[in-house]
Amino acid sequence: MLRVAVLGAGRIGRIHAANAALNRNTKLVAVADPFGDGAKTLAAEWGCEATTDPLATLQRADIDAVVIGTPTDTHVALTLEAVRAGKAVLCEKPIDLDISKVDAAVAEVERLNGRVMVAFNRRFDPSAQAMRKSMDAGEIGELRQVIISSRDPGPPPRDYVKHSGGIFRDMTIHDFDMARWLLGEEPVEISASASRLIDPSLEEFEDFDTVMVNLRTASGRQCHINCCRATSYGYDQRMEVFGADGMLLNENLRASTLRRWSGAYTEAREPLLNFFLERYEAAYRTEFEHFRAAVEGNKAMPVTMHDGRQALRLADAALESALSGRVVTV
Ligand SMILES: NC(=O)c1ccc[n+]([C@@H]2O[C@H](COP(=O)([O-])OP(=O)(O)OC[C@H]3O[C@@H](n4cnc5c(N)ncnc54)[C@H](O)[C@@H]3O)[C@@H](O)[C@H]2O)c1
Repeated sequence: MLRVAVLGAGRIGRIHAANAALNRNTKLVAVADPFGDGAKTLAAEWGCEATTDPLATLQRADIDAVVIGTPTDTHVALTLEAVRAGKAVLCEKPIDLDISKVDAAVAEVERLNGRVMVAFNRRFDPSAQAMRKSMDAGEIGELRQVIISSRDPGPPPRDYVKHSGGIFRDMTIHDFDMARWLLGEEPVEISASASRLIDPSLEEFEDFDTVMVNLRTASGRQCHINCCRATSYGYDQRMEVFGADGMLLNENLRASTLRRWSGAYTEAREPLLNFFLERYEAAYRTEFEHFRAAVEGNKAMPVTMHDGRQALRLADAALESALSGRVVTV
């Protein structure tokens, strides 16, 4: 039984707490959040302890692993503290917004022999896993192109955007991780185009709301990513991989497979699942189980700090390309 504490009782902390409480091989011992009633409410829901002291929680001998679901600017300090205390860590993305801080953290975790997984949940989506498995089985032959569409239903609050690090580091970072995972090779070249089609005032933060990115690997494999902060028809998440012998397509998910016909329309379908908490519910659950299995089986983490670092590096390079109008070598 892996004994787990969740730090941060916000949107993502609530998901991780539920998964830790419901997994039959883990025990949710405590939820820590220094602000408001979040920890108390969440702990009451799952019958565990609530605390406002995350640092004291990390020192507890009856906790083996921690999930860090706190704001991004706290990830590095909490991860290092947890590793020093001998805990295994599942840390939310991004590790940090500053690549030099990430590099120093990666080096320190390596020096301490720490066990840290970065929470790129989309790799654990059942459809994404099926896609990767088919590719590994050689179904589409030699990979040529990856196409990722990732569009949020609506823009986040302005205050969130201000501290988010920008669309590439906050949102597209998931797609950069998927791109690396599907390409099977590191991108060496990136070009990005970025616009403010929803909110021109994002200029104040040097941010954008609508972006397109092209990546190329050393062997010539290509990937196209498009992201938008608002979509009139819901949360749009699609992926395509194209190879010498075929193509695999991951479509959007709906609440049911019902299709409707009437005098006004044909083949109308259920709306898309609302946002990430619903669309990736299974992915978060499977992600947590993979973390547990890696910790308990003493196996390599399925997503490493290096993966977190590389995704941030691509986000930085995309911003550089968008601002300069040049192709950037990674
Ligand atoms: N993987 C994903 O799909 C996904 C989705 C959403 C958010 N995230 C990431 O998760 C992190 C949190 O995002 P969120 O949307 O849940 O934010 P949130 O604001 O909803 O929740 C953060 C919580 O952390 C608490 N907190 C602040 N400092 C703390 C500390 N030192 N110790 C413990 N708790 C502390 C806050 O009080 C708040 O309750 C961010 O890094 C974000 O990028 C990832």
